[in-house]
Amino acid sequence: MARYIVLLGPPGAGKGTQAEIISEKLGLAHISSGDIFRENLKAQTELGQLAQGYMNRGELVPDDVTIAMIRERLQRPDCAEGALLDGFPRTPKQADALAAMLSETDSSVDCVPYISVPAPILVERLSGRWTCRAEGHIYHTTFNPPVQPGICDVDGSELYQRDDDKPETVSRRIDVYMEQTAPLIDYYRQRGLLAEIDGQQSIDEVTGQLLAAILKGQA
Ligand code: AP5
Repeated sequence: MARYIVLLGPPGAGKGTQAEIISEKLGLAHISSGDIFRENLKAQTELGQLAQGYMNRGELVPDDVTIAMIRERLQRPDCAEGALLDGFPRTPKQADALAAMLSETDSSVDCVPYISVPAPILVERLSGRWTCRAEGHIYHTTFNPPVQPGICDVDGSELYQRDDDKPETVSRRIDVYMEQTAPLIDYYRQRGLLAEIDGQQSIDEVTGQLLAAILKGQA
């Protein structure tokens, strides 16, 4: 039976950092909607050009476009055993669409770990974040520095700072999260799927609690 895990949390909570570790441990495909938009932007596809304006303003790409993109991604062979979703769903409409698409294969969301972090810490994390150009590996100047500044430990590629990590865009992203995505906390709590994790612990501690929550959700 395929397993689907949704990682929920505000911008900078550590979803991408944890998804990279946990997807490998569980042998699940890591699907990051933000990464797919950024890959399309880099390749200058129609989807990337459409998403660019929304991303630069810190706003959400329209639901219909995002849902179609994830539907296509979930049909690829590497998702046969399920997937770890990072950054999707982000609105109740996306959450309903995900439930509907999984029901087509008699599947459903198994567990929704919610990484909770207060806003001032999010700003600090995003302003110090560095991302690798080749594969999107994530670092932080203070909390998770690379061995050699500016170079990815894993693949040796250049590290860069995301355009949407500028202070004014970060503040808009947090507002948009509060307005449009935070309602998913209750959405999934009411369905008995939510597991709240304190995201202010170290990266290793958060990983441990996430794994415990996911394994409990499968018991
Ligand atoms: P997306 O790329 O999904 O960005 P986000 O959700 O805003 O999340 P981030 O990637 O900024 O943060 P994260 O939680 O992954 O944190 P990270 O692990 O990097 O989306 C970007 C844009 O795409 C959106 O604004 C929107 O326009 C569009 N989009 C994407 N999905 C969409 C959707 N479904 N619908 C519509 N539009 C969509 O960690 C942050 C930093 O903290 C790093 O430097 C890390 O090293 C550090 N860190 C991590 N954990 C810890 C820890 N425990 N302690 C200390 N530091 C830590």
